[in-house]
Amino acid sequence: MSKLRIAVQKSGRLNEDSMAILKDIGIYIDNGKDQLKASAKGFPVEVFYLRNGDIPQYLKDGVVDAAIIGENVLIEKGNGISVVEKLGFSTCRVCIAIPKSAKYSKIQDLEGKRIATSYPNTVQEFLDKNGVNANLHIINGSVEIAPNIGLADAIVDIVSSGSTLFKNNLKEVETILKSEAVLAVSPVLSEEKQAILDKIQFRIQSVLKGRE
Ligand code: PRP
Ligand code: MG
Repeated sequence: MSKLRIAVQKSGRLNEDSMAILKDIGIYIDNGKDQLKASAKGFPVEVFYLRNGDIPQYLKDGVVDAAIIGENVLIEKGNGISVVEKLGFSTCRVCIAIPKSAKYSKIQDLEGKRIATSYPNTVQEFLDKNGVNANLHIINGSVEIAPNIGLADAIVDIVSSGSTLFKNNLKEVETILKSEAVLAVSPVLSEEKQAILDKIQFRIQSVLKGRE
């Protein structure tokens, strides 16, 4: 019998809540995060611990069948991957932020400016929609440092508590999108795996109802 391969974030803010919901639906993982792959007890499931940004491509290629992932990552990289369930945790927003002392009244104020981000597609689409030309600098982490070291005039990153912005003397000026963890599915899924996924989704819905 084939097993459904589910990807979760290897480490970071999504990991803990992802493992918690798997446990709540009766999928117990016996070995820890040190291994990149683990079989579940009591269900035909294998869990893969991966980097967030790699997950959309693995779903597209059918290397994994499903994933618990931030919607914002799918919006950035996930054409053609469907979301089958919103999971209600790891809520955040993708925002534009600038130094506290900088003046801002409208998005056109960013014309010709340098914006640092890990989400270039999301930012470019937002700028295009607003008819703004800016220069994007792609950074993979610690984006909020960029204005302080003179690398950018603005940043776009996810904001959850707002504490990283605060610590780096930045203020939010626009929200591009809101995000939460979702259950996403590969476009190439066998009937057998679809049947396992249906069961998992049903259990997730019951757990989410119970959390309301
Ligand atoms: C994430 C994100 C923001 C921060 C937002 O970074 O990139 O910087 O969390 O959360 P907050 O509003 O609650 O402060 P993370 O700590 O995951 O590190 P990274 O950017 O270096 O990957
Ligand atoms: Mg960060």
